[in-house]
Amino acid sequence: FHIDMDPQAAKKGAYPYYMLKEIDEQPGVMRTLIQEYVNEDGSVKIDQELLDALSKADRLYIVAAGTSYHAGLVGKELFEKLAHIPTEVHVASEFAYNPPLLSEKPFFIFLTQSGETADSRQVLTQVNEWGYPSLTITNVANSTLSREATYTLLLHAGPEIAVASTKAYTAQIALEAILVKAYGEAKNIKAAKDFDVAGELTKVANGMQELVDEKGDIEKIAQDMFATTRNAFYIGRGVDYALAQEAALKLKEVSYVQTEGFASGELKHGTIALIEEGTPVVAIITDPKTAAHTRSNAQEVIARGANVLFISSRDVAAEGDQIILPEVDPLLSPLVSVVPTQLLAYYVSLQRGYDVDKPRNLAKSVTVE
Ligand code: G6P
Repeated sequence: FHIDMDPQAAKKGAYPYYMLKEIDEQPGVMRTLIQEYVNEDGSVKIDQELLDALSKADRLYIVAAGTSYHAGLVGKELFEKLAHIPTEVHVASEFAYNPPLLSEKPFFIFLTQSGETADSRQVLTQVNEWGYPSLTITNVANSTLSREATYTLLLHAGPEIAVASTKAYTAQIALEAILVKAYGEAKNIKAAKDFDVAGELTKVANGMQELVDEKGDIEKIAQDMFATTRNAFYIGRGVDYALAQEAALKLKEVSYVQTEGFASGELKHGTIALIEEGTPVVAIITDPKTAAHTRSNAQEVIARGANVLFISSRDVAAEGDQIILPEVDPLLSPLVSVVPTQLLAYYVSLQRGYDVDKPRNLAKSVTVE
């Protein structure tokens, strides 16, 4: 078993930890994806055969595990809004033994950084037995899931060494956006034709750069709000809910702070019972349609003693919000809102004295079911 790696790209250099290096690399990864997949004239370089196969599908099934599953949740929004294709997202280990009722012409998308996750592979084997077409989106060329799927798209994120995934998540979302541009255009959908994917991802890259340049602010927030807490919550609606789930996973996996990502409107239906004096709650607010609602959910927890951190986009920011996100296309907002949450996880872990690159009990690639 051999993995091709550029030895330079896999070195930490001046960085104390790979996780920080990989967070910082994200603006560059966005630019590489534009170079690899978008032509000068803005059209997308995606294999016509793959686009034809997608165009025949009546429903997409995204299958993944862990952080890649969370990138799939964002992908669903992109595929449904820009390519008008119904999309389901499934946890691989659940799908494997309890598959949903499939549509007549399903198309499967496997999201996997390593291309080796056994839970996802189990599903792909089944899909191949059924004879349905599939695409693996992965960071590792010639990985098992890449070889066994009908089509492959590579993330070009460079080796991801830290166990907690960062740049693979943002690369997956960016590549989903690139794919949906070509797919929606092939279906003649106006929203896709109007979507300037290279321009939008360039804005994202610049926005990510602004955020990584201000990491000192996050380091201080980590110290002020999370130094001794045992639990924490992320809340949001729509894509901010999808992001909340990834942000919660990141914090819990490297800092061991029990963290949940919640749909902000659902919190009051039970989970709010866990809010105590000083419980950190991070509210992610990027969508003007739901901004007021999430703010009122934040007020509900503030009234019960929670310590709320607001991360909001510039256009919906309110006075007192601690982290203001640069403006990007609303569908791509997780690409920027995830950055402060990755940094927060990183600093909380360091401040607690853990090895952030190698969290206890976890492996980079899980090859058992
Ligand atoms: C492991 C890793 C996670 C990762 C998941 C899926 O659990 O610790 O960080 O998200 O596997 O990995 P994949 O390589 O399929 O994206």
